[in-house]
Amino acid sequence: MEPWNTFVEGDNLDVLPRLTPTYGPFDVVYLDPPYNTGNPFVYDDKVDGRRADRHRTWTALMRPRLEAVREVMSERGAVFVSIDDNEVAHLRLLMDEVFGEGRFVAQVVVNLNPKGRQLGRGFATSHEYLLVYARSLPTCALDASSRSLVDPRDFPLTTEDGRRYRRLPLRNTNKKFNPVTAPTMHFAIYGDPGTGQVSTEPFPGALEIKPVFGDGGPAVWRWSAAKIDAQPDDLVCRWVGTAERRRADVFQRDWLHEGRRKKLRTIWLAEEIGSTDTAVVELKSLVGHLFESPKPTGLLRRILETMPDDARVLDPFAGSGTAGHAVALQNAADGGRRTCLSVNAPEPVRPGSNADLAGYARVSDVTRARLRAVAEVVGGGFEELALDS
Ligand SMILES: C[S@@+](CC[C@H](N)C(=O)[O-])C[C@H]1O[C@@H](n2cnc3c(N)ncnc32)[C@H](O)[C@@H]1O
Repeated sequence: MEPWNTFVEGDNLDVLPRLTPTYGPFDVVYLDPPYNTGNPFVYDDKVDGRRADRHRTWTALMRPRLEAVREVMSERGAVFVSIDDNEVAHLRLLMDEVFGEGRFVAQVVVNLNPKGRQLGRGFATSHEYLLVYARSLPTCALDASSRSLVDPRDFPLTTEDGRRYRRLPLRNTNKKFNPVTAPTMHFAIYGDPGTGQVSTEPFPGALEIKPVFGDGGPAVWRWSAAKIDAQPDDLVCRWVGTAERRRADVFQRDWLHEGRRKKLRTIWLAEEIGSTDTAVVELKSLVGHLFESPKPTGLLRRILETMPDDARVLDPFAGSGTAGHAVALQNAADGGRRTCLSVNAPEPVRPGSNADLAGYARVSDVTRARLRAVAEVVGGGFEELALDS
């Protein structure tokens, strides 16, 4: 069986074209490139110190790498790129060029520093971004929803046979939809608020019910008559209003079923996905505090949840190997068969950094150490791939 985690040491620009057909194509590509904060290894920002040159140099670094990523992606694939304010505007335009503006899926705000950055002037920045693009929009497998966000407390009602649900009004509460704009959805249905039974045909004990807004104005239903007749168990009739001024209304029983998902918003909070601080704790417990700004596995797991559970994942800027860790955790949690290929350059660690003091010479040594530890602690195996030179 293929190991969940594989590592290749090298410059991703060199590695990516040599991966397929053996290792590709990839369904999820997560990129966490060096942010443009002055790391001399990846780009030379000392051209003349001007910001415009810094952007140009950074874009020149990224363009061929994004093109290489596009070439190794599957038709159902999506690419997720972490970025902060320094380059988000340039990256967005670059992604539009490389992937196509029409393949843009979302620009997510990721709240990785909930306390906010206290250094320097101005606002206490507490977020960065995740740009999401599809390789091909019509065939992309991305489902922008999550199972872990579903809160059972949102489903406070229980049927006699123990099924949990919540009640949603069957009438369309959006005023844009009314008998003028949606005439076929304005019709009478029949319900018994005593038994709860609902039908599109009259029956003994039933009251005729038409959809109305809170102010009494005519509204429309959300379900067609055919759907109402096909799913009577999913509807319930009950009294609403006060004892003196009550009327019968119809509600959908929205079930808390196995595998239920909730649509993801475009702001991801640290309390849901973790923060840079919690990411450091995760890394520490596995191999030590060997990397400055790792991403939390929760961010990656949320990304993974939007894609099929047999996704082939690629992380070309692996750093401390968070994507590989998240793949193992997610497989262990849901029985998925995802695999992750992590790539990192043999960049020397910063002199005096924790990694240096712990005896690691290169960042790729840190990636390797974490992925090995993941295989030991979480499982799924680990393999290092040496590409023929
Ligand atoms: C921002 S860090 C990634 C952090 C990672 N997501 C994590 O959670 O630990 C970027 C990484 O990309 C690596 N890198 C930079 N340029 C690279 C290149 N051309 N090819 C491969 N890796 C590269 C750096 O060594 C660094 O580890």
